[in-house]
Amino acid sequence: METVRCVIDIDLPGAQISRHLYGHLTEHLGRCIYGGLYVGEDSDIPNEGGIRLDVVEALRAIAVPNLRWPGGCFAEEYHWRDGIGPRERRPRIVNSYWGDVVEDNSFGTHEFMALCDMVGAEPYIAVNVGSGSAREAGEWAEYLTRGDDSPMAALRRANGRDGPWRVRLWGLGNEPWGCGGGMRPEAYADLARVFGTYSRDHGDNQLYRVAAGSTADSYEWTEALMKALELRLGGARPERLWPTFQAISFHHYTVPGPWENKGSATDFGVDEYYWTMAKAARIEELIAGHARVMDAYDPKKTVGLVLGEWGAWFDPEPGTNPAFLFQQSTMRDALVASTHLDVFHRNADRLVIANIGQAVNVLQAVLLTDGAALVRTPTYHVFAMNKDHQDADSLAVRLPDPAPARRGLTTFSSTASRKDGHVLISLTNLDAANGLTVELDLRGARLGDPTATVLTAGALNAHNTAQNPDAVRPAPLGEARIEGSVLRVRLPPYAFATVKLPVLE
Ligand code: AHR
Repeated sequence: METVRCVIDIDLPGAQISRHLYGHLTEHLGRCIYGGLYVGEDSDIPNEGGIRLDVVEALRAIAVPNLRWPGGCFAEEYHWRDGIGPRERRPRIVNSYWGDVVEDNSFGTHEFMALCDMVGAEPYIAVNVGSGSAREAGEWAEYLTRGDDSPMAALRRANGRDGPWRVRLWGLGNEPWGCGGGMRPEAYADLARVFGTYSRDHGDNQLYRVAAGSTADSYEWTEALMKALELRLGGARPERLWPTFQAISFHHYTVPGPWENKGSATDFGVDEYYWTMAKAARIEELIAGHARVMDAYDPKKTVGLVLGEWGAWFDPEPGTNPAFLFQQSTMRDALVASTHLDVFHRNADRLVIANIGQAVNVLQAVLLTDGAALVRTPTYHVFAMNKDHQDADSLAVRLPDPAPARRGLTTFSSTASRKDGHVLISLTNLDAANGLTVELDLRGARLGDPTATVLTAGALNAHNTAQNPDAVRPAPLGEARIEGSVLRVRLPPYAFATVKLPVLE
């Protein structure tokens, strides 16, 4: 078995890993909202105000920090006033992006805020820039966050909510180059300034406005948005001419094949596995590329970079509505997730928010529902095992050069962090056939006994279903021990593991 030797300096903390790197997208798409998060008050499935209690409990357990809503592309045709007031009086609309189905607006602003409250997540509202107005966006902010008797605050009260909510994360549109209006970068950059301006702070509620931006490596979007901020450098913090937006987002999905034939989520071979992993690993280059553009304008990193949507995107599950983007999630997806999360940790100095697409029943979901049954996917378990990286100080893991590789892909990845008297180390072995021994020299502190957990399976395409919900689940990893300062861990092939150790001094 190959051995890889790494070094971690426990006493040299880096940037804090924002908990918001573990956010989720919850869009009115397929069965994400309806059937997934919300079943209605009359459902036999246990719920509170129509919100599924089993899903809430599962999301709470992985400490979901924020939920981005109502989309995605749906956000760009959503008018928030359709989703308030008595449900029977809410208008029906057509969800033309996702299946041309009728949307009855029974899940609206109050239901979403209740969901966030139950999950313990911050709301991340995406306002409609493409087909909405700056006035509509501004009034939504007033409705949500204003405390006095202003017109929108009074309307909220009339709809049964007295006090204002706290809302910080505020997205200005979605994919403006495509479903968000087919705009060019400079045109959208001006609109982002307009919408950012009229989305006001009310009382002591301060919005953190996120401009929507590019897909993948369309760096010209990030450039145009940085220019639009007109940062004046110098001084402790750069000054903005006008407080328009505080962060810039981009999206990137891992799509293994051409768009019309992306490949099956469950029926794939080793070649497709490596190809998918190579695509997933590209996120490192993309984040570095966007960060480089931002550094040129903002070397002090005061403007946040947001990865508003990420995850694996395969062909929809045969027999399901193709517009609903329902796909199974296997051990391969778990490794797509651990690869991304490692890259997020390594870039925590610039990357402030990331949202996997999506939370339930759509694309690389952490949860699948089948009627009353709830299934935790392998990706869910990666989020659970990595939970304690949230808000921890990152620790650099120094790898040998060259690192283990197969078919031109680096197959070993590791990140670490320190929080609350513990060190958490994440380890990914992407090799489809071979195990790996990892020796980590943990310098700068004395550490106690390791608790190690591993996620792997009998096959790359192993997955969980309502009939077999625990086919892939975390298990204790016996083969982790510390001798002096050296932690030795033996990883199986295609496996993700975490090791937690107490800091003794
Ligand atoms: O997550 C599915 C869709 O992917 C979103 O609606 C859109 O923003 C992206 O293209």
